Amino acid sequence: MYVLACLSYIVAAVFWSGAATDDVLSKHRFPKDFLFGVASSAYQVEGGRNVNGNGENIWDYFTKTKPEKFHNSSNGDVACDSINKFREDVKLVKNLGVDFYRFSVSWSRVLPEGYSNNINKDGLRYYNDLINELIANGIEPMITMYHYDLPLPLHQIGGWTNPYLAYYFEDYARILFSYFGDRVKHWITFNGGCAGYGEDGFAPFLNQPGIANYICNQVLVLAHAKAYHLYDREFRMLQKGKVGVTLEGNWYEPGSFAVEDIEAAERAREFKLGVYANPIYHPEGNFPKAVRERVDNISRQEGYLRSRLPTFSAEEVEYVQGTYDFLGLNCYTTFLVKDAEEDVSEKTSSDKDIRIKMYQDKQWHKAKSSWLRVYPDGMRKMLKWVKDKYDDPEIIITENGYSDNGELVDIERIKYYQKYLSAILEAIHEDEVNVRGYTAWSLMDNFEWIMGYSEKFGLYHVNFSDPNRKRTAKKSVDWYKKVIRERRVVEIKEVSSRLKGDL
Ligand code: NOJ
Repeated sequence: MYVLACLSYIVAAVFWSGAATDDVLSKHRFPKDFLFGVASSAYQVEGGRNVNGNGENIWDYFTKTKPEKFHNSSNGDVACDSINKFREDVKLVKNLGVDFYRFSVSWSRVLPEGYSNNINKDGLRYYNDLINELIANGIEPMITMYHYDLPLPLHQIGGWTNPYLAYYFEDYARILFSYFGDRVKHWITFNGGCAGYGEDGFAPFLNQPGIANYICNQVLVLAHAKAYHLYDREFRMLQKGKVGVTLEGNWYEPGSFAVEDIEAAERAREFKLGVYANPIYHPEGNFPKAVRERVDNISRQEGYLRSRLPTFSAEEVEYVQGTYDFLGLNCYTTFLVKDAEEDVSEKTSSDKDIRIKMYQDKQWHKAKSSWLRVYPDGMRKMLKWVKDKYDDPEIIITENGYSDNGELVDIERIKYYQKYLSAILEAIHEDEVNVRGYTAWSLMDNFEWIMGYSEKFGLYHVNFSDPNRKRTAKKSVDWYKKVIRERRVVEIKEVSSRLKGDL
């Protein structure tokens, strides 16, 4: 008993002194016009997949046809049931005091087959109501048009490897701008990149690395540019909004000071982020030169009669370059990179094209997700890299967050946010990076793709065994509220009153 009391005293003393975290907190403040937000995405939270008028998308399809690919064979049929509980969700968002809510529109809820000839009025009504509810509560809606959930018929014609997808995406964008653009002023065309085209860990599980992911890459970028130009031509004058894209902004750090490793890390950045960012954000546009050269050469060595990396025509380079008002970045973690041996006999793959070894430092604190280790300096370095490379664009961090088992006293999540927000403050004040906003991922625990409900990123807990999907605020809610109110990184002990009771 005595030992136990001593032990809890020591634990509490360390905890309350804040020693573990407070030493790294930035003392800078967030600029007056800096925007705070919180995010979710349609398939991950909505549920209501089987309601009338809703079309099938690739996640509906693969969770049914290949349940073994998903943790516990779970799916998003109900998820957080936001389709029915969105008014309650807006209350949760409002309670945080954020400026905006980033959510995505489910393409197949609005256009059941993906095409513009059949518009689902109920789908439109849902997003209309959500937007209006947000605005009535003083929260700005920020819409992601496409967050990985392609309508099934579009997948059946080749998905993002079919160049016509760029046209169909433009039609979809037109419908969204027309119906919602009077109230939505931040549009994100795409989230992330071509997951599931070059590997097996994501729908549509195409797994043709070094081919499908590059084709998808080009089509996605062209589709984005089409939506951007459409906005410019027909909507911008009246609606006065901003259009950008969200890319994965994880950092790649050289594994040593050796020149080959420094070059390998740069190669990783170009192959992972640059392939999407360069055509749009780089003053010269097009795929990064290093990527072009390597894939062309290796394709030749492998006996292909043409490069596996598609080419943009000169008109396309010009058409795509500069199609942005801001850049969205999802930044969670850092990977260390070492140069790898060239092995011409290896099978075609983008890993072979990049020729690196990627790993993480075991000393970095690990979250629940296998890929997520805490290294906040990567956030600052990545922001500086993007500023220098892409001509100092306006940046919004569109996702940043930490996964665990869903604990209500989520101290590790708070520590994570503290460190990453500190890194952002340093980037703003010391490196003069133009970061305009920050979005916590996620509003609530949700369907984490193939990991199902086993990795929780939420500020609010969701009880998935309760048919009512009860939401409960975690401790990070109190903390984030105070950060937003006071525009600085708050120490844990400052939100201690509620925490005390739980210790
Ligand atoms: C980025 C994705 O956009 C989001 O859907 C996902 O839940 C988070 N990463 C966490 O893995």
